[in-house]
Amino acid sequence: MANVLILGANGQIARLATQQLLDTTAHHLTLFLRRAKRLAVQDAAREVIIDGDARNATDIQAALGGIDVVYANLAGHNIAAQAQAVVDAMDATGVRRLIWISTLGIYDEVPGAFGQWNHAQLDGGYLEPYAAAAQVIEASDLDYTIIRPAWLSNRDLVSYEITQKGEPFKGTEVSRKSIADLVVHLINAPTQAIRHSLGVNQPNTAGDKPSFY
Ligand SMILES: NC(=O)c1ccc[n+]([C@@H]2O[C@H](COP(=O)([O-])OP(=O)(O)OC[C@H]3O[C@@H](n4cnc5c(N)ncnc54)[C@H](OP(=O)(O)O)[C@@H]3O)[C@@H](O)[C@H]2O)c1
Repeated sequence: MANVLILGANGQIARLATQQLLDTTAHHLTLFLRRAKRLAVQDAAREVIIDGDARNATDIQAALGGIDVVYANLAGHNIAAQAQAVVDAMDATGVRRLIWISTLGIYDEVPGAFGQWNHAQLDGGYLEPYAAAAQVIEASDLDYTIIRPAWLSNRDLVSYEITQKGEPFKGTEVSRKSIADLVVHLINAPTQAIRHSLGVNQPNTAGDKPSFY
């Protein structure tokens, strides 16, 4: 059993991962989010919900007591500042294991026409802060795993394959359920993919853009 801190717990992938963790594991969960009243405890023996802002290292530090794994499902133009706050809080408390959701394209690793389409969609305010956030994580000495999902769908499907940093990204899309499944897998296998950055896509989705565009 591990104690897991989920940052951005009201995020769409985070809610799927929370449900899977409650349904399939014995882990204890601390759900960290802004305006915490938006979530309700399902299992009081295994869940704590706390109000906090991931820009604030003090808020994060207050949530890190006894935590084994941090899963950060954050977003926003200020995500690099959030990454720095997460690293600072983890450094201050000695918690080492971090699973960090990022995005495809932060290393300019998406090839071909889809790579160009991806740049056209995401340059100018999205890719840059996500790349800067990943640099903050990679410059830390934490036991991180960065996850770079393809374009996210809400399909009721778990199907994914992984590319490593330095390899061309594959495919165009992946379901949020698949990313949640990978997060749960990594929480259950805490020595896997340490200091790796994983591209994640649904197999056989190569193309010029995701099927839903
Ligand atoms: N859409 C795509 O195709 C795609 C593809 C690859 C990667 N991604 C990225 O993957 C990540 C996860 O996806 P998702 O669908 O789960 O995203 P999501 O539903 O937007 O969840 C992100 C969460 O981050 C939280 N957050 C933002 N700033 C925060 C702060 N300062 N303190 C605390 N929480 C904060 C938000 O909380 P609030 O509810 O309080 O706003 C939100 O719940 C996102 O970063 C997304 O951009 C998206």
